[in-house]
Amino acid sequence: MSESFEPKNIIVTGGCGFIGSNFVRWMVANHPECHVTVLDKLTYAGNPKNIAGLPESQVELVVGDICDADLLDRIVPGHDAIVHYAAESHNDNSIFDPEPFVRTNVVGTYRLLHVAGRYDIRYHHVSTDEVYGDLDLDEPRRFEPDDPYKPSSPYSSTKASSDLLVRAWHRTYGIRATISNCSNNYGPYQHVEKFIPRQITNVLCGIRPKLYGTGKNVRDWIHTEDHSRAVWDILAKGRIGETYLIGANGERSNIDVLRSILSAMGQPEDAFDWVRDRPGHDRRYSIDSAKLEDELGWRPIHADFGEGLDQTIEWYRDHESWWRPAKETTERKYAAQGQ
Ligand code: NAD
Ligand code: TYD
Repeated sequence: MSESFEPKNIIVTGGCGFIGSNFVRWMVANHPECHVTVLDKLTYAGNPKNIAGLPESQVELVVGDICDADLLDRIVPGHDAIVHYAAESHNDNSIFDPEPFVRTNVVGTYRLLHVAGRYDIRYHHVSTDEVYGDLDLDEPRRFEPDDPYKPSSPYSSTKASSDLLVRAWHRTYGIRATISNCSNNYGPYQHVEKFIPRQITNVLCGIRPKLYGTGKNVRDWIHTEDHSRAVWDILAKGRIGETYLIGANGERSNIDVLRSILSAMGQPEDAFDWVRDRPGHDRRYSIDSAKLEDELGWRPIHADFGEGLDQTIEWYRDHESWWRPAKETTERKYAAQGQ
């Protein structure tokens, strides 16, 4: 049996990033009864424009670091839930400079768990399917919640570490926690360092898209709005102490996704460059979300990946002033890495 919870005043960490800001916008559209305090450090990946224009009566931004224990002690009391999205989130960055990943993803999660325990606050932890490592391309298997953790990269190992802290803090201190592990998200407001926005904005800038390795690696794509709906369902109805996997049957190889982007943008299907592979590159992710569907009745509504991709391309066409400031620095960094 699921427990029912009606949050009225939540803290969303990382609410100025890609997935966190989509969740905040979704909350405003779907749960006007719930006030949202966004706690975000505004790193290179956080942009206050992502939540600009939302009603001030419902959404408040606190600029600060989740590792700052004094700040957490000041702002957390009075809230009834923490939804934790804040993280260093990009694998390629983690390979070249792991330290911020250990700090934010591991120490930051510890600080939030500590404060959630002190004030007895419901805690939802947003994580990734990458904690389970990878699958073979032809393996007839998907990730399931109780699979062993086998992370490959500094990013996924710090996310796995944070999940383990949550499990231990639930068991030892009785924190009212849930965890969700989601597959690759796409949609508006995603930073141009990530695969889909990078390729779309490359085409818009007249730069050839870049494909790592063989292009055969498979990701299980989900629209970020479906992720938001799932996180809300878990927060409101999920069983305390449980892990839920979130995925929308969206497995596609990188080369297929790139060809779809090229075709939708009127480019020849070979108009891209093969570049150096990512060290330790995970081959395939695949999510079995049966537990989420059976227990909580969640279903993806963006079932047509092609349609979601077309809308995402349109969004980047229409929002050049949003992505342009980050584009040059991002490409310079990739060029220095041979990618
Ligand atoms: P993102 O990089 O776009 O955003 C991260 C946000 O966290 C930014 O706003 C940043 O300013 C903020 N932040 C970073 N360090 C902070 C700190 N120390 N204190 C406060 N704020 C800080 O990331 P995203 O892609 O939106 O991912 C959000 C969460 O979802 C992460 O926990 C990630 O592991 C998880 N996730 C991502 C995906 C994906 O496909 N991107 C898939 C599954 C799970
Ligand atoms: P990414 O968006 O970084 O997400 P993740 O590493 O969490 O899966 O990359 C998605 C896939 O695309 C991954 O297999 C790496 C590949 N990739 C490219 O081929 N070219 C690129 O320019 C980038 C950024 C990623």
